[in-house]
Amino acid sequence: MVDDAFATCYLWFAKAFLKVKVSMQATELPKTSHGPSFLRWAGSKRKALKQLSAAYSADNLLYVEPFAGSAALFFERSPKSALLGDLNGHLINTMRYVRDRPSELYAMVIELSRSPDEYYSKREQFNTLKPHGLEAAVLFVYLNRNCFNGLWRTNSSGKFNVPYGGLEMGNTPPLELFLKCSAALQNAKLRHQDFRRTVAQAGDGCFVYADPPYFTAHERTFVEYGRRSFGKKDLQDLIDGLQAAEKRGAEIALTYSDGMPIEVPSHWVQTRFEVTRNVGGFRGSRKKNNEVLYTSVPLRYEA
Ligand SMILES: C[S@@+](CC[C@H](N)C(=O)[O-])C[C@H]1O[C@@H](n2cnc3c(N)ncnc32)[C@H](O)[C@@H]1O
Repeated sequence: MVDDAFATCYLWFAKAFLKVKVSMQATELPKTSHGPSFLRWAGSKRKALKQLSAAYSADNLLYVEPFAGSAALFFERSPKSALLGDLNGHLINTMRYVRDRPSELYAMVIELSRSPDEYYSKREQFNTLKPHGLEAAVLFVYLNRNCFNGLWRTNSSGKFNVPYGGLEMGNTPPLELFLKCSAALQNAKLRHQDFRRTVAQAGDGCFVYADPPYFTAHERTFVEYGRRSFGKKDLQDLIDGLQAAEKRGAEIALTYSDGMPIEVPSHWVQTRFEVTRNVGGFRGSRKKNNEVLYTSVPLRYEA
């Protein structure tokens, strides 16, 4: 009798436990830590914000970021005014809509199903669009959240071709993050342009943070950002441009691979830090790399 009661109780609890577990599996996505940007981005500096923040001073009147990407440092520090540039027109279009119409954009993103079929259909639709308008911005956020590893990669015709990443890519950031990013962007000029133009606009009272793509003989990492590669000549133009901006009165911070020594003015301070990168964008080949933070003035505090 006691045994029967025990067995009945045990069965009841086991069934209840299974029911909860199954319903959790059906609805729960892996917990993702979001922010400070609403985007995931190859080469994002979200894991190095402590070091980068030590280079930043809020006393500067204008924050300038010529390779914005997900603009992790910008969103972390939320400067009072900024100029953000990037060669990716869809990225800049999306930043504009997050700045001006965050709630509307968010509502449209979360309405879309996250199934593989929907993903591939939206990817096709996205590839017919120019980098203008709300629809392109909504699909950019949706693809960024659901594609493999948050990569931006295009084929030789410039079409976005990153495969579906699966629900394990984590949940969509909450509306609060979009609103926070929108608030940070209120005083930001957003420019779809080459870094040379953005750096040329920096001078007295500016803080310039340059985080260019990089590559080595073994890693074609530039494919992460689209068709245009970033070669040696670009790197030299960047260093020359940053030096000229420093002469006009700007403070400079530059991050680059430790494995690829570059020639910067001898007074620039060098600080090494560790980042995790996906070689060629593949998670299986995720590895730790050292990067160097070069700054034209000493760090504000020890990072
Ligand atoms: C390493 S990512 C920047 C990541 C950024 N710091 C973050 O936290 O997400 C480099 C960015 O440079 C952009 N880019 C590549 N070539 C460029 C060029 N010639 N001018 C401006 N932007 C460029 C890419 O589109 C990409 O967004």
